[in-house]
Amino acid sequence: MRLILLGPPGAGKGTQCKHVVDKYGMKHMSSGDILRAERAAGSDLGKSAQGYMDSGKLVPDDVIIGMMIGAMKDATGGYVLDGFPRTVAQGEALDKALSAVGEKIDAIVNLQVPDEVIDARMTGRRSCPKCGQVYHILNMKPAVEGQCDNGCGELVQRADDTSEVVANRLKIYHEQTAAVVGYYEGTGSLIINVDANQAVDDVTASVLGELDKIDQAE
Ligand code: AP5
Repeated sequence: MRLILLGPPGAGKGTQCKHVVDKYGMKHMSSGDILRAERAAGSDLGKSAQGYMDSGKLVPDDVIIGMMIGAMKDATGGYVLDGFPRTVAQGEALDKALSAVGEKIDAIVNLQVPDEVIDARMTGRRSCPKCGQVYHILNMKPAVEGQCDNGCGELVQRADDTSEVVANRLKIYHEQTAAVVGYYEGTGSLIINVDANQAVDDVTASVLGELDKIDQAE
């Protein structure tokens, strides 16, 4: 399956992608994770993205499009895209690259969450810088406070998870990313809207229930 997971910052895209990948075995391709890995490696791409990410702005389209379309070439067994596309220009570039090789996206899962719940989700998030596992200080606690359950060591708080930067990310989501749903409606793509303002397990059950239908039809 080739999927896109859309939704505002903190909608639970990374959390749900993990369950999708565990069940169907495709590759999880998170633009945010790839950018953070580039930063950790000190690459030119990572250095150029740093200022945008820390202030909650979008990294320029040409940088992201080249990075993601290049990375997708290795994902021969399908993928779930997380955080990409985030602008209509990115969606158009993705469709163009896919149609050039005779492929298309099977479905877009759109996680819907009201703005009011986002700040608490983001400021309470803790992440493992080594394996990428995501936790929350109240509703998804690690077994030992501050430590990754996978034995990697200390959890960290992302620099862009402060209330101020989260407010900017949310603003940019409404200004630039929400329109991506309309773009895919216009192309006649299958869009699966999911209420993501439920307990994590209930969101997972809704997402997997819908994806099972696609999987069985293939
Ligand atoms: P990115 O890393 O993609 O950030 P994001 O889209 O803002 O999304 P997040 O990863 O913050 O949240 P998520 O939806 O995955 O939620 P999660 O599952 O972690 O991008 C970072 C930056 O990189 C951008 O700001 C931009 O600068 C740049 N960038 C990336 N892609 C780009 C692109 N395509 N174009 C341009 N720039 C780009 O969950 C969040 C928290 O909530 C966790 O603590 C979790 O435990 C908790 N939680 C999850 N689900 C639930 C639930 N149902 N109930 C309660 N709590 C929940």
